[in-house]
Formats: sequence, structure tokens, C-alpha cells
Amino acid sequence: MYQIKTVAVLTSGGDAPGMNAALRAVTRAAIYNGMRVMAVMKGYKGLVTNDIVEFKTQNVSNIIHHGGTIIKTARCKEFTTPEGRQMAYDNLKRHNVDALVVLGGDGTFTGAKIFAQEFNFPVVGVPCTIDNDLYGTDYTIGYDTALNTVIEAVDKIRDTASSHERLFFVEVMGRDAGFLALNAAIASGAEAAVIPEVRLKDDMLAEVIQNGFRKTKNSSIVLVAESEVTGGAEGVAARVKAEHPEYDARVVVLGHIQRGGSPSAQDRILASRMGAAAIDALLEEQRNLMVGVVNDEIVYVPFSKAIKDDKPINMKLIATLRALSI
Ligand code: F6P
Repeated sequence: MYQIKTVAVLTSGGDAPGMNAALRAVTRAAIYNGMRVMAVMKGYKGLVTNDIVEFKTQNVSNIIHHGGTIIKTARCKEFTTPEGRQMAYDNLKRHNVDALVVLGGDGTFTGAKIFAQEFNFPVVGVPCTIDNDLYGTDYTIGYDTALNTVIEAVDKIRDTASSHERLFFVEVMGRDAGFLALNAAIASGAEAAVIPEVRLKDDMLAEVIQNGFRKTKNSSIVLVAESEVTGGAEGVAARVKAEHPEYDARVVVLGHIQRGGSPSAQDRILASRMGAAAIDALLEEQRNLMVGVVNDEIVYVPFSKAIKDDKPINMKLIATLRALSI
């Protein structure tokens, strides 16, 4: 039986809209339950360099609607070394921290798992990534906002695609996952999605090439998930142009615009629920796990599962896209 008096919180890896809302929820839920909160600046970097400050409830006022993260984020090399993690542990002890809540994605939880095991230290993760690629949770914080950002951009691209009767390949983020590309394709009424989960020979691009994009329409939009497997939008465009040099094709890479902006209502609610649930987990003496949401219920998933297992994509969505893009 141990009692957590002080909890530290950090944001790490790529930022995601809703990280601030999650930070607010962790801070407020901890204080509500009688804990002291220490905010670690710049992710694991701040742990290693002792950039740690106390947060009161007013430190997280007026941030729920802001994108990014007010405590900054980083990808930290030092924390991947035993020496760096030892410094991080010493700094946590210096501030009498009993538990750590980490807000981030795959890389963040990989570091958290190693650290928790090495020092037998309680760590809980809150999934914040636009990629939605963590096993054990239906959604990650930031994904819904990014999806809306993508469809807003594609709506605009559609105007010019249609005016010029062009074929557009729009590349979206997702690291090695196609959640953003596939669902954005459905939501924006795109003609096809090329995602890493579908083998090259079966992908929808083959159909676009075979049928010819002008069969029933005079403009087309194909969403492409960034990844070595798909070859990105440039790679896909090259495949198509090789067979159809006559197509008037263009490539758009949406890039980091997808990570910014005010979080959607869905992401704010998800962040608020998951942030509070992280503190609940610590109160229940649970540790070394990620908070998830499955069928609208909070669940807890061991770090080892969340980062190791591949989150399956619903292949029925491909069939839906195929049927609706005739
Ligand atoms: O994991 C979030 C993400 O935005 C991925 O979709 C993308 O591949 C990566 O981060 C980009 O990272 P960086 O901002 O370090 O270039």
C-alpha cells in the first residue's frame, strides 16, 4: 500500500490538439484528490535537466481550447540511455515525486515502460497522437481534430481539382498507420485511399489506374498515408503517371498543419476523461499502463500491449469507400 502525494506530468513526442486539455485534466484531478502536481517542461528532456515547476489549478486555466502544449514537448535522446534515465529518476526524487503521468504516443510509452521497470516507479500514460495508432484504445487525443483539419483542406483542394479537371494526391500524416488517410477519404468524399495496411497489389490505386480516373468523374482526389510502404503522395503519383502520363496530376503534402489548431469537442472530452482517469488509475494503485477508451468506456492497457500490438484498421471502411466513390 503506497500513497501518492506528488505526481509529475509531462508531454512528449509529437504534439497533438487536446494535449493541453489533457494536461488540465491531470492537474485538476490530481489537485482535487489532494495531490501536489509538478509539471515537467519539454518532455523527458525536462526530467533529465531538472526543468520542473509546481503547477496549481490556475496554471491550467484558459488552455482547454488551445492546440500545442503549454509545457512544451521534445523527442529526447538522453532519456534513451541508462545514464539519462538515472538523472531523470534523481530529479523526480529531488522533488519528492511519487508517480509520473506521461502524455504522448508510441515513443513516449516505450520510454515510460523502460523507466517504470528500471526504477520500479509508477507511470501512467495518456494517449495523445494524431496517428490514432495505439493498440487498446478506440481513439487517441488529437486524432479527431486532425481528421477535421484534413477534410477542411481536402474540401478546398476539391474546388481547384474540379475547376481544372485534375487528379490530386493528398498526403496525410499517420507514421505507419492509415487511420487518418482512410477516414479522411470517407469524410471528404475522396475517390480512393492508399494506406500501408493494404498490400500494394490490392490497394485502391490499382483500380484508379485500371478504370481511369475520368471514367465517371472529371476530377479525383486520392488520399495517401505517409509511409515507406505507400511511397507517400509523390511515390503514388509516380506510379500513376508511369501508366497514364496524360493525367493532369498534382501532389499536396499537408504536413504539420495537421498537428495544430483548437481541439474539437470530441478531443476535449476525450482528453478530460482520460486525464482524470490517469489519476483514478494511480489512486487505484494501478501502474505502468495506458488509459484507453473502448466502446465509450475507460479501460487500462499495459504499456507493453499498447506499443507492441498493431492496432487493426477496420477493412469494412475500405469497402464503404469503394462503394461510395463510384
Ligand atoms: O506521430 C505524430 C506525427 O505527426 C506523425 O504523424 C509524423 O510521422 C511524425 O509525427 C512527424 O514528426 P516530426 O514532427 O518530428 O517531424
